[in-house]
Amino acid sequence: MASAQSLTTPSTTSRTPASGSSPQSSAPIGTLTKGTLTPERPVPAHIPRPNYVGLDEPPRYTGEDAYDAETIERIRAAATLAADAMVATAQLIAPGVTTDDLDAFAHEYLVSRGAYPSCLSYRHFPKSICTSVNEVICHGIPDSTVLAEGDIVNLDITAFLDGVHGDHNRTFFVGDVDDESRLLVERTYEAMMRGIRAVKPGRPINVVGRAIESYAKRFDYGVVREFIGHGVGKAFHTGLVIPHYDAAPEYSQLIEPGMVFTVEPMLTLGTRHWDMWEDGWTAVTRDRRRTAQFEHTIVVHDDGAEILTLPSAQEESS
Ligand code: MF3
Ligand code: CO
Ligand code: CO
Repeated sequence: MASAQSLTTPSTTSRTPASGSSPQSSAPIGTLTKGTLTPERPVPAHIPRPNYVGLDEPPRYTGEDAYDAETIERIRAAATLAADAMVATAQLIAPGVTTDDLDAFAHEYLVSRGAYPSCLSYRHFPKSICTSVNEVICHGIPDSTVLAEGDIVNLDITAFLDGVHGDHNRTFFVGDVDDESRLLVERTYEAMMRGIRAVKPGRPINVVGRAIESYAKRFDYGVVREFIGHGVGKAFHTGLVIPHYDAAPEYSQLIEPGMVFTVEPMLTLGTRHWDMWEDGWTAVTRDRRRTAQFEHTIVVHDDGAEILTLPSAQEESS
């Protein structure tokens, strides 16, 4: 039951181009710098915290990566909520909005539905979601950065609900985006979907990255190696590693029914190598060219992967 086919192309914020102007065909080189952060957002006391809150690093997870049906249903609920928060938060994306505005909205969306935003206080991450603009590969920290026409922005939203996590990210267009950036975003989505469709029980985990990298190579895109897909559910990151590049013969552990993990490739227009900002989180491409990412949490069935991070019909149509 591969629900993959029902998915559409990347979400956009629809906007009418200014008359007489046409989008540039090539992507600008990034010049992003760190903004200022707002104070920590409170989480109501009645919402259960994940076990890593207040610790420097999460306790080691020693449980399984394949779950029983009851646990999978709980992960499905957390994943659906993350996807619903994505749909709702993305509606705010427009020139003039700050990444902190997006964090504030997503935080409220999750806590008002009884969920803890998994990013908040994970290894001291200071905000509730990740917002990664243009040359930021992943883990951008929401701050006073103002989105501008032509930017691309990734929102990574993870919900902790009923003791389990669902992890989801998508890249969005801010107004009209140049063709090179648009194609990168669309092809990164397709790369993720090809990785997901490669998932079948009995195959080695490295089939996922092989499908992603072979597609990315057609376009000469870089495939980031150091940030990976991961087992998710009873822990935010279980220790199970899903590379997005062709890692064979490594990562040959066999995929099993009931396994839950993410597929979340990061593709770049130029180099796959990166620099880390002094905040210890924000990873930017070394050449400051643009990069895109998509992420789904999936569960493995006998006939392939099912995507769990799909919005409920209610949120999707709102
Ligand atoms: N959601 C990210 C992932 O896909 C992890 C973010 S960790 C944070 O694995 F601390 F940066 F939020
Ligand atoms: Co993830
Ligand atoms: Co994520």
